[in-house]
Amino acid sequence: MQLLVTGGAGFIGSNFIRHVLQTHPDWQVINLDKLTYAGNLENLQDVADHPRYRFVKGDIADRVLVERLLTEGVDVIVNFAAESHVDRSIADAAPFVETNVNGTRLLLDAARHHRIAKFIQVSTDEVYGSLGPADPPFTESSPLAPNSPYAASKAAADLLCRAYRVTYGLPVVITRCSNNFGPYQFPEKLIPLTVTNALEHKPIPVYGDGMNIRDWIYVEDHCRALELVIAKGRAGEIYNIGGGREIANLELVRAILDLLGKPESLIEFVPDRPGHDRRYAMDVSKIRRDLGWEKSLSFEEALGQTVDWYVRHHCWWQRVKSGEYKEYYERWYDRLKPV
Ligand code: NAD
Ligand code: TYD
Repeated sequence: MQLLVTGGAGFIGSNFIRHVLQTHPDWQVINLDKLTYAGNLENLQDVADHPRYRFVKGDIADRVLVERLLTEGVDVIVNFAAESHVDRSIADAAPFVETNVNGTRLLLDAARHHRIAKFIQVSTDEVYGSLGPADPPFTESSPLAPNSPYAASKAAADLLCRAYRVTYGLPVVITRCSNNFGPYQFPEKLIPLTVTNALEHKPIPVYGDGMNIRDWIYVEDHCRALELVIAKGRAGEIYNIGGGREIANLELVRAILDLLGKPESLIEFVPDRPGHDRRYAMDVSKIRRDLGWEKSLSFEEALGQTVDWYVRHHCWWQRVKSGEYKEYYERWYDRLKPV
């Protein structure tokens, strides 16, 4: 099976590519990534020369390039490519609409013309909006009520996916996952920011009162869910994915400081994010029942392993924080064969 993975040089995409190359000896992967600030080829340095893996630098909105890649016999598209950081979407929504909405639309059109067997849209719990403290978790039929420009752009893409399924019969499956954590996450997101700032003895910004709740999932468990969706997910379906572990930001930051033996005095309360969603939680009974998915590690085990990974991979995150990671690509690009 030939997979076109878009956005594979980012956090989840790179974990997914490494995972499927290890677990599926008959799967081949083309990684199409624009290498925005969030794309980092050092995330995949260990598989760069893998015989079943190929990197192509490019934009999902480049119709000619995508069409060319699809003529190479792609069976499944897994669309991770996106602008993914809520705070950046508040500063400027334009790239979010460009990539998350228009890029997805172009990819859907190309998939339609090439009769792709399955199109997986990697979406987010944020499309459902915010829960109150006593609300039940989101199910696949919860209404879409996005609150940030990021969430709105992902919801728009989900609706396009739905429309292409209904109108053209495109075999689209949408997955909606909660907050991921694990190796290779860009240190603008809460967990890697907290770990790396703590290691550098820098302040850790906690928005508002720190009582916003997220449902955290270990990235490897998300990758395993996507693997099941590729193999068994039904076209036209939506699958919620989540870790089933709700925790307030402040409690999470304290837990990380405790693991690192760092003082709570590093916590710095800062003004709240505008439109900050209070609580996310996912009902994952559908993917458990229909596809047999279960998470592999407890939250505590996965958080411990993740913190340990950042401690051991000082060089990786320091190069991201300093901007040096972009030089690796420049060197690598010199030996890039034309696609
Ligand atoms: P990320 O920001 O780490 O990576 C995104 C990748 O997409 C980068 O490598 C970037 O270079 C690439 N990209 C951006 N625009 C592109 C374009 N126009 N063409 C090709 N490539 C482009 O994001 P992530 O955290 O790995 O998230 C991946 C996907 O999963 C996103 O679609 C996101 O919405 C979704 N998601 C993320 C989470 C999470 O907690 N991180 C949770 C649920 C869903
Ligand atoms: P983030 O990792 O940006 O994910 P998302 O906004 O997609 O859920 O943020 C997770 C939570 O942590 C969210 O409630 C915002 C909060 N947060 C902070 O308190 N401080 C920070 O520096 C960041 C980046 C996030």
